Amino acid sequence: MCGIIGYTGADDGEQVCDVLLSGLSGLEYRGYDSAGLAVADRSIAIHKCEGEVTALEAALPDGSVDGAAGIGHTRWSTHGPPSDVNAHPHTDCTGRIAVVHNGIIENYRDLREALSAAGHSFESETDTEVVPHLLEAALDGDLDDVVRRTTTVSSDDLATADADVAGSTAVADGEAAEADGDSVDATTVREAAFRRTVACLEGSYAVAAVFAGDETVYAARHESPLVLGIGEAGHYLASDVPAFIEYTDRVIYLDDGEYARVTPDRVVVTDERGRVVDADIETIEWDAEDAGKSGYDHYMLKEIHEQPAAIRGCLRERVEELTGSIELPELTALARPARVQFVACGTSYHAALYGAQLLRDHGIAAQAFLASEYGADRVPVPAGTLVVGVTQSGETADTMRALREAAATGATTLAVTNVVGSSAAREADHVVYIRAGPEIGVAATKTFASQQVALAMVARVLAGSETQSAVESLRAIPDGIQQVLDESLAREVAETYLGAEAYFFIGRGLDAPVAREGALKMKEITYKHAEGFAAGELKHGPLALVTEETPVFATITGDDDAVAKTLGNVREVRARNAPVIAVTDRPETAGADATHVLPVPPLGRELTPVLANVQLQLVSYWSANLLGRSIDKPRNLAKSVTVE
Ligand code: F6R
Repeated sequence: MCGIIGYTGADDGEQVCDVLLSGLSGLEYRGYDSAGLAVADRSIAIHKCEGEVTALEAALPDGSVDGAAGIGHTRWSTHGPPSDVNAHPHTDCTGRIAVVHNGIIENYRDLREALSAAGHSFESETDTEVVPHLLEAALDGDLDDVVRRTTTVSSDDLATADADVAGSTAVADGEAAEADGDSVDATTVREAAFRRTVACLEGSYAVAAVFAGDETVYAARHESPLVLGIGEAGHYLASDVPAFIEYTDRVIYLDDGEYARVTPDRVVVTDERGRVVDADIETIEWDAEDAGKSGYDHYMLKEIHEQPAAIRGCLRERVEELTGSIELPELTALARPARVQFVACGTSYHAALYGAQLLRDHGIAAQAFLASEYGADRVPVPAGTLVVGVTQSGETADTMRALREAAATGATTLAVTNVVGSSAAREADHVVYIRAGPEIGVAATKTFASQQVALAMVARVLAGSETQSAVESLRAIPDGIQQVLDESLAREVAETYLGAEAYFFIGRGLDAPVAREGALKMKEITYKHAEGFAAGELKHGPLALVTEETPVFATITGDDDAVAKTLGNVREVRARNAPVIAVTDRPETAGADATHVLPVPPLGRELTPVLANVQLQLVSYWSANLLGRSIDKPRNLAKSVTVE
């Protein structure tokens, strides 16, 4: 959902450009329909084009991009289609300002009309382009005039920003004694213009700007992620840590409403009122190699193979075999909730369905809601409800909104997320990290497995039903996944059914979310039609679509009754000549009617579905691979969806 990067710190322009390009590659999972960068020296050089970062790299002139500071952007289009002109960075009428932005500026039409009336002309269809023009107006002393022409910004907004600027000016003045007086004055003026500009924006933004003749990168955040990197030879800012992890593992996560002024020798974070924030510097626990492909053809395959290690990470110091206890100190302050509501999207919603079912198994009323529908559904949130946001990135706009709405009703909130310092982690009352490590492939794989395992632990801890056998099963998951990875026949199955018209996935109980996830993975990376159902639903309509050209993947684990019923559904499908691929922990019996069997080791009713899902991941991966699809960057998608 767009990635931004900023860097300042080297005298050598080549280095600025290299840092920006490698940063953009590390952010491409957030969007990859166009890319661009701007390097500030005495003037500003902007290079941008439609296509991936490699296209930008190829389009750069040899050795001529010089400067001390720069910003870059990789785009997932919201306003205006992918094109050279809509790519970021955007600039003002004079070409002395460059801006990159992730998020949506909701009042951009109003701002654009006001700026146009004041004489500004625009080149792109983007919402972002208003920002450099507002900055230009602010520097020229024309912003009050522009604001008078708007309906969404008031002079009070600017007056508040001016009061805040007074605070931040004091900070800059304090530095004047240490630094060159002229450059600090110019910096102060630009920071004031930047704050006044940001005061005009409605919507969500992580925004960064550079100016000709200035080695400072100015940035602000509201409801879109922004993290600063504290390096040895320079400083960084980005939408996410993979952008600069090869240079530094020391980071500061900005909060909503905070601003950063980043120069080669210092980073100053200020709050909405312009007061300096004593921000914590955190150390990232993974390194650049973890974020690379390590010899695999695709991140997705690497991440599928990382699942045993990811689950070990998730379980580390949390399960105690001797005593049969599960330790989640993060939940110590939580009593057994009267009811639990999960909110999540996409793959995380499937994990939420799985978590809700586990809680119900333990007698706690639990339901999973699509976060994007939570508000529209007007879900009542009675006292005593725990609302759990399941979100790998911790930034998904739909999930964040649902969590905020729930918090506003007085509900206690819990975030189950992978990203330390993410919005969900910081805003929720409690947080359980799934500890899957960085996931770069757009299709979620190891984070889904880690969500399932984390939710299995959360369910037992909330219900107070930790047992030795549960702990033993949890600890057996990594070896179980490894066995699936070592022995899987998924590639052969993918080859057999590569020409299929459509793929169906069925499962009952805890296998039903796995069926839905199997279909989502298949459709997002192969672009083939795929649907996942609760097994019993097939006969209520979708069976009409089942033919000998539509393989049906049946996940068959769980208790005997559920297995017997799903086998009944398998026979209904076989009677229509559709091939059936059974994914099961009892291949002899449950596989008897199937065309192919993908076996998994038995780990009990709760956890065998985690292993079954790995088989389905592999089938999707190999199908997409054989079809020559863009596996890590499927068309139209982005990993972190920060718009509603
Ligand atoms: C699919 C996928 C998406 C995400 C969804 C929510 O492979 O990754 O469906 O699961 O966009 O993202 P998070 O978990 O970051 O909230």
